[in-house]
Amino acid sequence: MSDSKASSGSGKMWGGRFSESTAASVESFSASIQYDSRLYRHDIMGSKAHARMLAQQKLISAEEGEAIVQGLDAIQAEIEAGRFVFRPELEDIHMNIEKALTERIGEAGARLHTGRSRNDQINLDLRLYLRDECDGLDTLLIDLQRVFAQLARRYLGAVMPGYTHLQRAQPVLLSHHLLAYVSMFGRDRDRLKDCRKRINVLPLGAAALAGTGLPIDRAMVARELGFASVSDNSMDTTADRDFVLETLFCLNLIQIHLSRLSEELVLWSSKEFDFIRIGDRYCTGSSLMPQKKNPDIPELVRGKSGRVTGALMALLMTVKGLPLTYNRDLQEDKEPLFDALDTVKASLAITSEMLSHTEFNKERLRAATTGGFMTATDLADYLVSKNLPFRQAHGVAGRIVARCQEIACELNELTLEEMQSFSPLIEEDIYARLSIEGSVNSRTSVGGTARSRVEEALGSVEQQLGIHI
Ligand code: ARG
Repeated sequence: MSDSKASSGSGKMWGGRFSESTAASVESFSASIQYDSRLYRHDIMGSKAHARMLAQQKLISAEEGEAIVQGLDAIQAEIEAGRFVFRPELEDIHMNIEKALTERIGEAGARLHTGRSRNDQINLDLRLYLRDECDGLDTLLIDLQRVFAQLARRYLGAVMPGYTHLQRAQPVLLSHHLLAYVSMFGRDRDRLKDCRKRINVLPLGAAALAGTGLPIDRAMVARELGFASVSDNSMDTTADRDFVLETLFCLNLIQIHLSRLSEELVLWSSKEFDFIRIGDRYCTGSSLMPQKKNPDIPELVRGKSGRVTGALMALLMTVKGLPLTYNRDLQEDKEPLFDALDTVKASLAITSEMLSHTEFNKERLRAATTGGFMTATDLADYLVSKNLPFRQAHGVAGRIVARCQEIACELNELTLEEMQSFSPLIEEDIYARLSIEGSVNSRTSVGGTARSRVEEALGSVEQQLGIHI
């Protein structure tokens, strides 16, 4: 690319000290407007608050302040109507808007950047943007929790095997399994709420890195923009991307949770399990095998966790070797962040939609609770209730399981006499304990799978989520 293609240095907002124009290759390599244009609304919101503060502090006149605010509103309307032309030679969203403002209102526009730098401005835009994104994610997480709670209500009473090591372990209520996801995504909501506290701090006023000598009023800007506090050290402020990394971590854990769920959905929709039927509208067929119905949606959600984790790793590595304060490397925070946000939001939405079109096969779930001696722990617990030390009880139950395997029968198909030959402590009431319902309903510890506990848990989840039944 020859220098003749380069644009005029005097055209740049920072062009004063330059005698040569910027190489076209440099312009295209360094521009961020292709992706940071999505910050336009928050950039304008921040600039309006800044302009009002400048006017209040008499750093600009009241009329200039008013002209800036109106000009910015007009630009926002133009962007939203799709009439605004973003110019790559103006690098980023900040300079595209500031240039358009100056072209529109003249000298007042040229006063907007008083007492601020793009270094604190980009930090501000990201914080304003991420506050909204956290709120949007919370809504999506609530939607997903609601779908789980509705399924838990609909299938209350259905039993299924609970697994450890993907081996049938103990019988549980399907609703208990479903409510596990409500808890999991509830932690994701808490984590975002906590992360939002650190996002919700005003960075503007840190200026380029050292603060400013102009009499700005940071507290006023914080109030205008709804920030809970004002950042302290200006150098830390302009260098800081912790809040972006934290958000990326929160997004990661959400996507990883969705991926674990997806893994179950893929397994459960296989012929081998046959526990669920995902609605036809949420599956695809094979172009070769006419009989196929594939769970592509959970597979894609599971697959997309790779790129979300990649985004976190990318920004960690970008920040790793950076000295204080702002370095242009930090511009590399946006693409991974935006991609992770888009991916997680789309994954949450499609998962909720698909799950609300998913049916559980109660008969298959129940059938899967037989054949695995899943009530062997109940047998041991029964002996413990007869005062046998747990280790010995475990041994007795193990020997009874071995016997059942030998003669190919279920635990509750053994005669009382046969069971008593392993331990005289066993009595007639053992059979109630060895039934699937008996086993499930005996697990009344807090957080356990007994129907009474699950009903209690479901009730409180429904209340929290504002579900009226
Ligand atoms: N586009 C830049 C970014 O995203 C904005 C800040 C640029 N500041 C600077 N002094 N070059 O990080």
